[in-house]
Amino acid sequence: MLKVGVFGVGHLGKFHLNNWKEIEGVKLVGFFDPNNDNANQVVEEYGLKRFMDEDKLMDACDIIDVITPTDHHFSVCMQAIRKGKHVFVEKPLANTIQEGRDIVNIVREANVKVQVGHVERFNPAFLALKDMNLNPMFIEVHRLAQFNPRGTEVSVILDLMIHDIDIILSLVKSDVKHISASGVAVMTDTPDIANVRIEFNNGCVANLTSSRISMKKMRKMRLFQPNSYIGIDFLEKKTEIIKLKQPEDTNVFSFDIETHNGKKTIAIANPVISPQNAIKLELQSFVDSIVNNTATVVSEIDGFLAMEVAHQILEKINSTSILV
Ligand SMILES: NC(=O)c1ccc[n+]([C@@H]2O[C@H](COP(=O)([O-])OP(=O)(O)OC[C@H]3O[C@@H](n4cnc5c(N)ncnc54)[C@H](O)[C@@H]3O)[C@@H](O)[C@H]2O)c1
Repeated sequence: MLKVGVFGVGHLGKFHLNNWKEIEGVKLVGFFDPNNDNANQVVEEYGLKRFMDEDKLMDACDIIDVITPTDHHFSVCMQAIRKGKHVFVEKPLANTIQEGRDIVNIVREANVKVQVGHVERFNPAFLALKDMNLNPMFIEVHRLAQFNPRGTEVSVILDLMIHDIDIILSLVKSDVKHISASGVAVMTDTPDIANVRIEFNNGCVANLTSSRISMKKMRKMRLFQPNSYIGIDFLEKKTEIIKLKQPEDTNVFSFDIETHNGKKTIAIANPVISPQNAIKLELQSFVDSIVNNTATVVSEIDGFLAMEVAHQILEKINSTSILV
């Protein structure tokens, strides 16, 4: 039985508690959170033990789940890893590049598993594409959210765009060549809305828009690659594939279209999306990696690489934008 200690039982922490309870082979030992309101609510509703001493909770556990605000990830992760504990840490891995680098370095010498909560990797709309050969050359992304003070200790790049950066880095197997970016601080003192163009060495271009000051929510990614278009709606959990029909494509809706070089048959497929809980899947996958001693699906290095791109974007914004 793997013993789990939770650090941070705010908004997302409670979702983690619900999911840990459903995972076999783990036992929730307790939590640490300096906020009395959140802590009292969890003691009352979950009957979970509140620890007032971080060390005592860590010492009693095998896994530390870090769901604190981003500017606390580093200190909690370092303390846990130094104690030889496996760590699941919410995205982004850490706040500053130096913090991220220090975590990567300490994990190298520690015999522990670390997974970063880039939960969109486990979104069923994305998982539906796992058997498809994805090789996008143009990517268009919109991730829009209504304003919420939670998460504003960091910019919209580290809070929201980081999800898409991680997905894109997992798809495009090439180094970043150039970044252009523009961002505006509207409600906070860091960018709340940003548009970014990432050019990769293989020619792929990703155009990302993220906002936390929108009236409506949207989380869409569109991938264009030779012969196909793939639309992923992370919010509605829908996936659409439109491509030139291949002989093996049976049972798909198709129609013919005349082009200057002859008739083409277009096939449209909407893969069946199984209604899965992405948070449960990511926590389960972390447990599996500990039990089977395999690599985590989103390692501390993946988390760091996404942070690195995020910070390059922030540097561009700071050097080119007037923050109002
Ligand atoms: N993966 C996702 O889609 C997603 C979604 C939301 C939030 N997040 C991430 O989850 C983290 C928490 O976000 P939230 O929305 O739950 O925030 P929140 O403010 O609702 O909760 C954070 C909790 O952590 C507590 N806390 C602060 N310092 C602590 C410490 N040192 N040790 C233990 N607890 C501490 C706070 O008192 C609070 O109760 C952030 O890193 C955020 O980026 C990820």
